[in-house]
Amino acid sequence: MTQAPTELRPKKLFIKTYGCQMNVYDSDRMADALAPHGYEPTQTMDDADLVVLNTCHIREKASEKVFSELGRLAELRKEGRNFMVGVAGCVAQAEGEEIARRAKGRVDMVFGPQSYHRLPELIARVAAGEMVLETEFPTEDKFEHLPAASKLVTRTRGLTAFLTVQEGCDKFCSFCVVPYTRGAETSRPVEQVLVEARNLVDAGVRELTLLGQNVNAYHGLDARGRSVGLGELCARLAEIKGLARIRYTTSHPSDMSDELIEAHRDNDKLMPYLHLPVQSGSDQILKAMNRRHTRADYFALIERIKRARPDMALSGDFIVGFPGETDADFAQTLSIVREVGYASAYTFKYSIRPGTPGATMTDQVDEAKKTERLATLNELITTQMRDFGKSVVGRTLDVLIEKPGRMPGQIGGRSPYLQAVYMAGPERLIGTVQPVLIVAAGNNSIEGKIVTHEERRPASVVESQAIAAF
Ligand code: 5AD
Ligand code: SF4
Repeated sequence: MTQAPTELRPKKLFIKTYGCQMNVYDSDRMADALAPHGYEPTQTMDDADLVVLNTCHIREKASEKVFSELGRLAELRKEGRNFMVGVAGCVAQAEGEEIARRAKGRVDMVFGPQSYHRLPELIARVAAGEMVLETEFPTEDKFEHLPAASKLVTRTRGLTAFLTVQEGCDKFCSFCVVPYTRGAETSRPVEQVLVEARNLVDAGVRELTLLGQNVNAYHGLDARGRSVGLGELCARLAEIKGLARIRYTTSHPSDMSDELIEAHRDNDKLMPYLHLPVQSGSDQILKAMNRRHTRADYFALIERIKRARPDMALSGDFIVGFPGETDADFAQTLSIVREVGYASAYTFKYSIRPGTPGATMTDQVDEAKKTERLATLNELITTQMRDFGKSVVGRTLDVLIEKPGRMPGQIGGRSPYLQAVYMAGPERLIGTVQPVLIVAAGNNSIEGKIVTHEERRPASVVESQAIAAF
């Protein structure tokens, strides 16, 4: 048997993604950038020609994982495996030089999120013997240069897709590295977003989640050079036939403009589920965190949002043990959670990030206290999540059917509130939105029954009652 020349042999790419949804999106775009150069994705490191670690810098633990993974990769190389190693993402951006120094000989290229469109060129430089370090913020727009995925590839990624519309952050919360790792806030132009969205929908995507570290600060330019907010961007996206749902994440309370709130009232495709982190319920801590709003502002905002969209469900992020947080401050966080009632929430122990103002604050909270507070908060949030699941029992919800279920004859999808829903039904419904009567709620998913349009009428009475009770 004759062997194909090495240049023609498809090369295998393994990307390990850490952290947030934007990294998931970025990993796909890196794969798209390399596809025309013969790289095919592989699900295992074992047969990879190129391993990329797409890293997260948000908390210390996330950062540390990079070095332990690099150690493992070095072992594989010692055993004779031959592959290239790249470190991408926020750790690369923030600690590029440190990685290049500490992991000399174990890493071939270190590159930040603004260089992904140049990946083929970086690989060529490595092949020519260079150790590549690329952590500048180039002036060119990477999105102009990143190729779109083929329809076939998009299909394999499923019916829901992420789409980055905004990157970076100008808020400088005192705990957060994002303004340093992802740089100043920038928004993609409207037309660029629309083109990408249309391509995704053409390939079968039914739900888009618009991404940005501070997504509701979006202010992209339209074709006439006018600055457009996120509400208007969603209106333009909603015009795309075949697109059923739009979501966005993550939002800062100070950037919830009237225009965006009204979009939740007027745009049927915008889902009634909002990730709106508050981080703490104590005004003193909010101030120390440089969050730029008070507890009362947050309540007033939620009231405005619920007036526009009474069935809006909320999710949040919370940090416990920020420097100076007393028991009384923490009690305020518990009380804000009780008062708002979250459908879901992410909770974190404060983690010192070098270079941020929080790192040099003198009144750090000890680890045991953080652990104790986290457990208390988690208990409350878990109860709320369970209660939220139960609150939709008896309602008829639109479910985007996404995949076959685990049992034969079963299909699965997501409610408007991002709940996983399972029901009996034929696979031909995958890709459609169906009215589903919710009959039971478990810990991680809910169970429903597809209703016919006739059955739906009386069910919607139940629905409006349930909304009123929210
Ligand atoms: N320590 C703990 N949690 C953090 N987050 C951001 N920075 C830190 C930190 N230094 C959390 C915030 C943010 C989420 C993405 O991560 O809650 O909203
Ligand atoms: Fe970090 Fe979000 Fe604050 Fe920006 S708004 S600094 S991304 S926590």
